[in-house]
Amino acid sequence: MQPIKIAPSILSADFARLGEEVRAIDSAGADWIHVDVMDGHFVPNLTIGPMVVKALRPHSAKPFDVHLMVSPADALVEAFAEAGADILSVHPEAGPHLHRTLMRIRALGKKAGVVLNPATPLACLDHVMDLLDLVLVMSVNPGFGGQSFLESALPKIAAIRRRIDASGKAIELEVDGGVDAGNAASVVAAGATVLVAGTASFKGGAESYAANIAALKARP
Ligand code: DX5
Ligand code: ZN
Repeated sequence: MQPIKIAPSILSADFARLGEEVRAIDSAGADWIHVDVMDGHFVPNLTIGPMVVKALRPHSAKPFDVHLMVSPADALVEAFAEAGADILSVHPEAGPHLHRTLMRIRALGKKAGVVLNPATPLACLDHVMDLLDLVLVMSVNPGFGGQSFLESALPKIAAIRRRIDASGKAIELEVDGGVDAGNAASVVAAGATVLVAGTASFKGGAESYAANIAALKARP
């Protein structure tokens, strides 16, 4: 079985104890730490800024996978890179110039990703494949944790898998939203290599985290 990575979203962590939560989820087996950045404008919620990422950085050596739900993104890319992000992913709709934003992320020495909302067509990948380290497929509409997985994401993941394979490039395929131990197997079967999981990682308190991550990786 192909090993997959689990990227717990700290959106579902206890924000009053974020450093402790990051340490706990790291030692429970998280592969990446997924950070959901929301601006109250591109998405209807307001979350984490670069200062928080900087404060969390010493609490884990795992890659910080920063999902930017901000518009425009360019002005914040450098601040998150300096704060300690390893991967920076942007939505094409956040604009105005996706190609420029990806170039900027790469120029900062970071990995670059594009995020596809449920209604975003694959065509937005057409002219940027060479600049990508990651494609992130949303399986919910962005803005909140705890939503139900949209089944329409599965054929989309499979279609992107075919594109990545045809490109011959080592591009990760990450899926975000409503992923749990019950649907992880079908998400991976469709072609995902990284699973974001907020609710499913952080449920039950710190003593459950290792079992939660193991359940996501087990895919019975
Ligand atoms: C939604 C975020 C997701 C979300 C995942 O906008 O991008 O990362 O927090 O949370 P769950 O796993 O609870 O759907
Ligand atoms: Zn996310």
